[in-house]
Amino acid sequence: MRKAEDARSRRASTARMTRRRLMGVALGGAAAVAGKLTEPFGAPAVLTAASGPLKLGVLLPYSKVYQQLGEDITSGMVLYFEGVGSKAGGRSIAMIREDEEIDPQVALRKGRKLIEGDNVDIIAGLVASPSALALRDLVHNSKTLLVIANAGANAVTRARRSPYIFRVSFSNWQTCYPIGKWFYDNVARSCLAGASDYAAGHEDINAFKESYLAAGGKVVAEVYPPLNNTDYGPYVAQMQKAKPEAVFVFFAGSDAARFVTQAAQYGLLKEARLAGPGFLVEEDVLPAQGRDALGAYSSLHWALTLQTPENIAFTRAYRERWKRDATVYAMQGYDTARVIVEALNATGGDTTNKARLIEAMAAVKFVSPRGPISFDPETHNVVQAMYVRQVREVGKAIHNVVFGNLGVTKDPGT
Ligand code: BEZ
Repeated sequence: MRKAEDARSRRASTARMTRRRLMGVALGGAAAVAGKLTEPFGAPAVLTAASGPLKLGVLLPYSKVYQQLGEDITSGMVLYFEGVGSKAGGRSIAMIREDEEIDPQVALRKGRKLIEGDNVDIIAGLVASPSALALRDLVHNSKTLLVIANAGANAVTRARRSPYIFRVSFSNWQTCYPIGKWFYDNVARSCLAGASDYAAGHEDINAFKESYLAAGGKVVAEVYPPLNNTDYGPYVAQMQKAKPEAVFVFFAGSDAARFVTQAAQYGLLKEARLAGPGFLVEEDVLPAQGRDALGAYSSLHWALTLQTPENIAFTRAYRERWKRDATVYAMQGYDTARVIVEALNATGGDTTNKARLIEAMAAVKFVSPRGPISFDPETHNVVQAMYVRQVREVGKAIHNVVFGNLGVTKDPGT
């Protein structure tokens, strides 16, 4: 008990010291500019918190099953920031990175550290749905803007939405509801559904079932292996027992790489068509999956091979900068950075007037590498097109090719 109190008081005093130290840096750098601009008659300059570097807390997984997703989002953000001279609204950008660790308690602790210890202006990131849910009250109550770069938890822009939360990526419903009817019409009248056993997996399958069942489809069985899994053998055997004509599954990161490889190894992919939200066969895992993934159908809001001027420019710049192909996560990081920069440019770098910053962010819209995007003013969730893709050979490589457009999707918000 005593130890916990000591630790709390040490943390509070470190936070106060950190704040003081950072204030000093801001004062030194900005006082002259503030004086020139706002005090023509030589009165003392009033320094606002908007004048130092923009402190951006970046909370992403840098370990475990979604490590590559976190790395890719970071690379996308850095690419965009470098392209605008690392400035937003005239302020330089300082990224403070923390590992979300795919653990909501850790994400909450790191989020608190970023807000109370580092005094960040904005937080960006979050890959796993439970982390986003864990951070919701913290950012809402502390009035800290959170720009979600991946985590799809529906509630974050529905029942638990907050004016302080914007989502640039997708809601879990958005990636799976639109493909249900298409899947019934074009692939299979009955299927097995499966997912990593956590919030995003269940929300994805529920959204898919909503439209698939309404179209007349039948789900013969459901299988939910744990998140961050290594051995899919028993789960693949369970799937084979149901003799499905197709499987519609949500897995991402190293789980997706392992599931597809092992499903091929045990023969499931010879017996059933493979489909799911695009994370299953996205460019981060395709090199490991190789030919096992050929033919898989998926729905997603982007593909490496989308032939638009914006995507061609983005994928080229990304390859040049990082010497590897972009992924949907990299694109989301790139767009997250752009949303922050455009909002800050609109407020002249001011992050203290929250109402003005929220208004500026809500008004941001542009043609992204994925196509046109904007924010739903009611929910702050992204409005965007959803594509149907198939893994095909493209020259000597294997990539997702877009061959259908399911239209612009807006999360229902309830
Ligand atoms: C999620 O937890 O929301 C999620 C993680 C990886 C890919 C897609 C969604």
